[in-house]
Amino acid sequence: MLGARPVWVLNGPNLGRLGRRQPEIYGHTTFAELAHLCRGWGRDLGFDVDVRQTNHEGELLDWLGDAADRMVPVVLNAAAWTHYSYAVYDACAQLEAPLVEVHISDPLQRPEEFRHTSVVTPHAERVIAGHGVDGYRLALEHLAARPRV
Ligand code: DQA
Repeated sequence: MLGARPVWVLNGPNLGRLGRRQPEIYGHTTFAELAHLCRGWGRDLGFDVDVRQTNHEGELLDWLGDAADRMVPVVLNAAAWTHYSYAVYDACAQLEAPLVEVHISDPLQRPEEFRHTSVVTPHAERVIAGHGVDGYRLALEHLAARPRV
């Protein structure tokens, strides 16, 4: 993958259980399948995609800090942290390369009030929600299509 540009696809809590977790909301694709899909979509777009998931907020903060230092574009599904983590807000604020926020479901259309707020959106160049796992492909395509700064 010589010359491929790095992109990190970072995922927050409970997304490791995709496929088994509330499939009526999140679908049947497993996290391993999602990671495989993202790497393939990325390859076709000239990206070297690194897909990660964590249930530990500090680990996500460390990854976001690394992404800031290395100026790596990030596709972020911060899952439930999206809705209340000011630490994730502060970490996203430090990113200089583009940030795309992704959600498999559309939190704004869901009944729980707490899902209607996002700490990521103020820092995101684009928000993609409600497209299932295909939203990750749309996020990578957005990064590929945007002019590079
Ligand atoms: C989610 C939506 C969030 O509200 C929820 O907490 C998640 C997943 C999504 O991808 O639809 O864990 O980010």
